[in-house]
Amino acid sequence: MYDYPLGLIQTFNDNVAYFNKFVSFCENIYDIKKFEYTDDNIDYYQNIFCSKVSNFILLAIYSNDVDYKCIFLTWEFDGKKLVWDIPSGGLPEKKEEIRKTIEKIVKKYLPNVNLNTISPISSVSMKYLHGTKEIVHKGLVFACSISNIKEYSKNNPHLRGLFVPINDTQNINITSSFNEDIIRFSLKKIEKMKQGSNTSTNEIETQKKYRGRYIFHDIFFKKLITFIGYLYKPRKSISKKRYKELLFDNIPSGINYILDIAAGDDASTIKYTEKSEVVVLNDISGTALDILARNSKTSKNIFFTNEDILNANFKHNSFDVVICKNCIHHFNSAKELTQLFDNMVKWSNKRIIVSEIMHPNEVSGLWPKIKNLYYERFLHDVGSSLFTINNFENAIKHFFINSQFSVRQETYLTVMGINYLVIIDKI
Ligand SMILES: C[S@@+](CC[C@H](N)C(=O)[O-])C[C@H]1O[C@@H](n2cnc3c(N)ncnc32)[C@H](O)[C@@H]1O
Repeated sequence: MYDYPLGLIQTFNDNVAYFNKFVSFCENIYDIKKFEYTDDNIDYYQNIFCSKVSNFILLAIYSNDVDYKCIFLTWEFDGKKLVWDIPSGGLPEKKEEIRKTIEKIVKKYLPNVNLNTISPISSVSMKYLHGTKEIVHKGLVFACSISNIKEYSKNNPHLRGLFVPINDTQNINITSSFNEDIIRFSLKKIEKMKQGSNTSTNEIETQKKYRGRYIFHDIFFKKLITFIGYLYKPRKSISKKRYKELLFDNIPSGINYILDIAAGDDASTIKYTEKSEVVVLNDISGTALDILARNSKTSKNIFFTNEDILNANFKHNSFDVVICKNCIHHFNSAKELTQLFDNMVKWSNKRIIVSEIMHPNEVSGLWPKIKNLYYERFLHDVGSSLFTINNFENAIKHFFINSQFSVRQETYLTVMGINYLVIIDKI
């Protein structure tokens, strides 16, 4: 079992062995390019920098907020030449969540923007001789998507950087320090990155804004809703718990990696750790991850990630099972749904499990509609594209009923409504 890979929620200080594990775990599940340097390649100043801090992170901060994709670059003068770099920082001396460390670096340069998603894109290993001792420092480069870019220069008197349109970056001078090819690689990576979901910023900001309500929901309302659901209980329905067990039974035992693409605050995902060496729990919302992490601090083989699942950087075939539960109604176009399903097929080496709650109009009675109103009006849930059974079946048929997959489909009535469970295996 992995010792402590809690992912972005993991607390770190500048402890080399500890960070090495984190980096090598990222290399396992992410499509990461490895950069390796020896002291022949690093310059005098970099050498001084490395003797002060050891492990480090570099940030390729980009935005799709305006009509064109752009990246934040800092500038300085190298002699008379203007050269560009990306923000960076060492890991702190005191333990801190890596996500917080990243947030702090972003805030230092760009106090008014909102950090949305964080995606490792490359790793750096620097070997150099300090006296006669060989020292290895590790670094990770994260692509960070941000929003609220228009405000970036407001009340920012020490700003020494600009958002540069990604298409204009071919002709600028990049710093000649060891970072140069890492920066060039990051620019290319971001240029190629697919557009995230239309609702991504709204999704993140809503959950942040109504954080209190989400916590209250997690502690109290969720249980109340389930309880009312039981009183209301239509005939032939099964309990929510039973439905989750049925889903769980479809996860094979003894596997290495599971990915839940949008775990939200669903604590039942923690149970997946009984079946898999590591469970990667992703959500676009850091707030949802925080709430979930409160329930799972004791579990050691969970790795939290904070990706927009439409442009996440996971490696092909790196998960035995990819789970998509109650998430596809958050994507509101055929293009997004295609992107989502293509990604899941790419990342899974065997099984995909889709579980989706159907539109409340598909069941008779008032309760499912009231419950839906609560999600819409009280929690301001952004997912408003709930499927009818007919539309859902058509989508599954369109994407998965072909010679590439074997597909099993089941429906279950629970107190929440009609749940569609689809088990898709790559042939
Ligand atoms: C209805 S909740 C379902 C959560 C959980 N799977 C469950 O069944 O309880 C949908 C989740 O999808 C997340 N989400 C929406 N768009 C996303 C995206 N583009 N990438 C990753 N997560 C996303 C939301 O933040 C939210 O937590």
